[in-house]
Amino acid sequence: MKTVLVLNGPNLNALGWREQGVYGSMTLADIERSVAASAEKLGLAVRFFQSNHEGALIDEIHAARGTADGIVMNPGAFTHYSYAIRDAIAAVDLPAIEVHLSNVYKREPFRHVSVTAPVMLGVVAGLGPIGYELALQALAAHFEHGR
Ligand code: DQA
Repeated sequence: MKTVLVLNGPNLNALGWREQGVYGSMTLADIERSVAASAEKLGLAVRFFQSNHEGALIDEIHAARGTADGIVMNPGAFTHYSYAIRDAIAAVDLPAIEVHLSNVYKREPFRHVSVTAPVMLGVVAGLGPIGYELALQALAAHFEHGR
């Protein structure tokens, strides 16, 4: 069975009360529950991790080497400036998909740039919590067909 590490970066622990007009009312625990249910249907194992700290996220990405087959990551604001997270994803060389709950392209200009996207297999943005499940589906297809 393939294992996917589902990573969430800074402020995503505040989902549920944080800017509900932008991010909706589901908590991270709610999202993780539906992702776990989707994973089960897809025959994937999932491991969840959230941190507000760049180094902790990098350590978890490094730990995925040999313990996970793919990564789904919402890097939060680190998306826009963390070359260190980008380098960590590139280093472990696992298929990774970036997820954003909001459509970053219709928000402030600083959110239009993702320094992490170039090392990802793909990006899902603007579709809300279902984005994590779409990313899992895409990884399942990638594991099966290598696309
Ligand atoms: C986000 C978008 C980022 O710009 C922001 O800093 C976040 C969440 C999203 O899921 O839409 O924290 O990654």
